[in-house]
This record gives sequence, structure tokens and C-alpha cells, in this order.
Amino acid sequence: MTTQIAAPPGQFELPLIVKGPWTSAARQLAIDKECLQHFIDYFGKAMKTRRWSPWHDLPIEEMKKFGQRLTQETINLIEGFLGIEEYVGDYVEEGLEMFRNNRMRRHLQLQWGSEELKHGVAWEKTLLHSGARTEEQLEAYCDKVQEHRWTIKNHAGADSPLGVTVYAMVQERATFFNYQETRARIRSEYGLPANPTEEERERGYEVGAAEAFRIVGVDEIAHHGIFLQIVLTHLKYLPEKTLDTMQQVFAGFQMPSLRLIPNARNFVRAVHQTGIHTAERHKQFIHNPVLKSLGLEDDEAFNRAVQAAKLLPEGLGPDQVKLGRTGEFVLAY
Ligand SMILES: [Fe+2]
Ligand SMILES: [Fe+2]
Repeated sequence: MTTQIAAPPGQFELPLIVKGPWTSAARQLAIDKECLQHFIDYFGKAMKTRRWSPWHDLPIEEMKKFGQRLTQETINLIEGFLGIEEYVGDYVEEGLEMFRNNRMRRHLQLQWGSEELKHGVAWEKTLLHSGARTEEQLEAYCDKVQEHRWTIKNHAGADSPLGVTVYAMVQERATFFNYQETRARIRSEYGLPANPTEEERERGYEVGAAEAFRIVGVDEIAHHGIFLQIVLTHLKYLPEKTLDTMQQVFAGFQMPSLRLIPNARNFVRAVHQTGIHTAERHKQFIHNPVLKSLGLEDDEAFNRAVQAAKLLPEGLGPDQVKLGRTGEFVLAY
């Protein structure tokens, strides 16, 4: 918050930073400013380091060569991922409606959507060139996706702009994890070591379908990153509301569209058979790392922070309130 003081004649008036109660308007202004910068950084990086095309940049000859080595489980996983990614239109549409009057979030929604659209195409091409599905089968599958409409309203806590952001932060991390795990499966089924070989490193891309999962995974972790930054900014200026929203979203978290995708049973069976995503693994590889990225040690610290935030005196801002790793707030005023 700044104010002007009258300067002696002949001198410029200088803005002074004054300590005062943080109003809702001041918090919102600070959030908007910080988040705009997060988006600008994200966009710049996306343009410079993550430009690729699923029609032009995937090693399809290698997909064809090694496709028959993929197991049925892996193929069913990829088909399910295709279904989930193909709901991109619904994901973007609802977001655009929600953020209609927020220019930065509208821009983020559009940019995020333009990146997400590539993922469904990448899985379609992977299934096709691996010889796992025909063009006709893929067309029929994508047509079926459109029979249902996905809405975020079915997801716990995701009924506000902040809730949607917290949901996206977790979902993107989970998606990244699932794709990394699938990439590892593909490498092993191809007969490759877990880490890229010398040859792959030198040429700058992995073999066949493993490369598709690598490149899409890079997008997903970048998506997690931008939503994490936005949540962190909210946590700084609106700790009580943000922690409360996080609690609701974490408690009822489910991946999007699972019940809507065509052949859902095949996908769910493949998830169980491969053990790729279980409740324990979600906690270990998604939930706990998300908490750590938010600056909290573990669930205990998180629950402590949720309760402690309710007792914070009103009118204090980030210059006077700091959230510690154990979930306690340190006040300085
Ligand atoms: Fe995606
Ligand atoms: Fe994503």
C-alpha cells in the first residue's frame, strides 16, 4: 500500500510505503500483479523451450518398428490417456467461462488449452503407429468421447476460481507422474534401460513411444508449475481461504473424466493390473511432493496450518505473516 506525502516546495512528491491493514482489495491487487508475472514467465518459457508438434516431431518410424513389443496393459493405458486428453474442449470451455472477466487467467486458459490439444493427438499417433489401433478404431473412439460432457463441478472443492486452480495443480502433477511411469514401462518393454542411452542423449530424443511420453511429460510438469505458482501467491495473501480450499480439493481428489472415457473398464483394469496409480502411490508421489512444493513438511503440518490460519488476526499481510514448514504461522508486527 502506498500513499503520497507533501514534499517541500521544489521537490518531487515521494511515495511512501506505509504499514496498514491489508484490505481485500489490496490483497487482490497484489495477487493479480504477481500472477500476471507468473503467466508472463510461463508463456515466455513455453514459447522458447516447449514448442513441438505431434504431427511433425514424434519418431513414428521407431514407433512402427517396436510397436509389437508393447503389452496389452500398456496399450490400454495409452488408450485411456487418449480419452482423458480428448476432453480438452470441455476443460477449456468451463475455464474460459469461469475466467471470462480475468484477462490473465483467460490467456492462461487459452495457452494451456493449445498445449493440451497436442497430447490427445500424441496418444492417437502412438496407438496408430505402434499398430495397436487402426485409424477407424481411433476415429470411433474419439467420436465416442464427445457423447459425454465433462464438468469440473463434480470435483470436490473445485467450484471457485481458486478451487479450480488447486485442482489443476494436483491433477497436472498426477498426470506427469502417470506419464513418467508409462514411459518407464515402454522403455522396459522395448528392452531399453530405464534412463536414456548415450545415443538417445546425443541425438536429443528417446526411442519411439518413450519419446512421446517424455515430451508430453515435460508439458505436464510445466502445467503443474504454473498452477503451483498461482496457488503459492494465493497462500501468501489469502492463507485461510487458500488452505481451506486445498483441504477440500485434496480430500475429494479424483482424476478427470475417468468414468466418461470410452472403454473405461479396460483402462481401469490396466491401472489396477499395472499398479501405476494406487492410493498409496498417490500419497507418496503426488500429494506429499505437492505439499513440499507448497512449503509444508507433511500432512500433519498441512492440517496444523489449516487450523492455525483460522486464528490469524485480520488485516495482516505477507510482510507480517509467514507460514513455516511445520504448519505454524510466525507473526511479526
Ligand atoms: Fe495433457
Ligand atoms: Fe496438462
